Amino acid sequence: MEGIHEDQRRLLRGPWLTRRRLQERQDRQGPPHRRGAPAAGRGRVTLAARLPEYPWDELAPIAEKARAFPGGVVDLSIGTPVDPVPAVIQDALRAAANAPGYPLTAGTPELRAAAAGWLSRSHGVDVDPVTVLPVIGTKEFIAWLPTMLGLGSGDTVLYPDLAYPTYNIGARLAGAASAPVDDLSDDALGAAPASARLRWVNSPSNPSGRVLNAETLRSGVALARSRGCVLASDECYIELGWDVTPVSVLHPSVRGGSLDGVLAVFSLSKRSNLAGYRAGFVTGDPGLMKELLLIGRQAGMIVPGPVQAAMTVALSDDAHAAEQKARYAARRAVLTEGLTAAGFRIEHSEAGLYVWATRPGLDCWAACELLAAECGMLVGPGSFYGPAGNSYIRVALTATDERVAAAGERLRALASRPAR
Ligand SMILES: Cc1ncc(COP(=O)(O)O)c(C=O)c1O
Repeated sequence: MEGIHEDQRRLLRGPWLTRRRLQERQDRQGPPHRRGAPAAGRGRVTLAARLPEYPWDELAPIAEKARAFPGGVVDLSIGTPVDPVPAVIQDALRAAANAPGYPLTAGTPELRAAAAGWLSRSHGVDVDPVTVLPVIGTKEFIAWLPTMLGLGSGDTVLYPDLAYPTYNIGARLAGAASAPVDDLSDDALGAAPASARLRWVNSPSNPSGRVLNAETLRSGVALARSRGCVLASDECYIELGWDVTPVSVLHPSVRGGSLDGVLAVFSLSKRSNLAGYRAGFVTGDPGLMKELLLIGRQAGMIVPGPVQAAMTVALSDDAHAAEQKARYAARRAVLTEGLTAAGFRIEHSEAGLYVWATRPGLDCWAACELLAAECGMLVGPGSFYGPAGNSYIRVALTATDERVAAAGERLRALASRPAR
């Protein structure tokens, strides 16, 4: 395995779990720490018992208020694409519909070459196509990566202090500990537990749109390598740079001369409106990728053939991605202007699919209430992404132009009303 650390080798090569560790894990399984967890049988602890409730359900009462607004709701809460799947991609899916046989877990040679080609063309990243592994949406991969790396009790997963919740969920599914860290602070990272075996970074960030520059990423990679920790970079918004151009962790200016211990995850959900197809891919350290492919083949984690064909076309075509990016840019302009007029301050948001905003004097829930009641807008509370988000809201750019224009008008009307 290419230059991988001894600790990683231990994690990735068999036996992944010694009998003693398995026994420890069984002993450790105490009572479920979630109230009302489903019991699978007396004395058994289910995986679900390790998980928190799904947080978006908490928004239901506020959503009801927004839906009652005259003219209807503008739902900017979840970053789910609303624009059509580009015609060239739909055509490719249809053309591949006659797919009676099992698809390749590794992806077709055409798909792997298209993924490598896109990385090279768009991001100055050169990878060997054999290190590309298609995944059934990146959320699923993120949730299972700690398990696939063999992490468990005694290991720790690090993730940004303001983060997409699935990094933490993945640690819980594996039975590992997790710890939020400040991405920008080498001191905080240096102080992270010695048991850290996987560190997630996410640039541009969901929820804040913050971009980590090459220097910050470079020192993150160096620190992870020095500690025998895999660095996984979730780059699902890398195409959506507004004020800056995001850099991939796989760029030679970040990773240096080798890919050791580094993985990068790319999603087609936002670039190509393919959230409904479940389409992404992972690449990076050739040794790690070989191991991940073996797991995928043995466990049947296979992207459907017609989706692979659609991904191949999506990754080979930049015109549709540019069109979609222009749509998001226009919506971003309307929403940032309206929110600013209505007394919100925009922070970060230099890239990605969200506007990250705060209004002095309001916590995130009060701000969500205000926008629902006064503008019929449904937005996400920043607290869903960690305590650092308590006084922020996350506003997705994923509503139609008509709905975003309505939000803009309502925000301007709110700005012109005397404060209550
Ligand atoms: C930061 C981040 N990573 C991963 C995903 C998952 O994307 P998908 O599973 O659609 O590829 C999302 C989805 O919104 C996200 O925000």
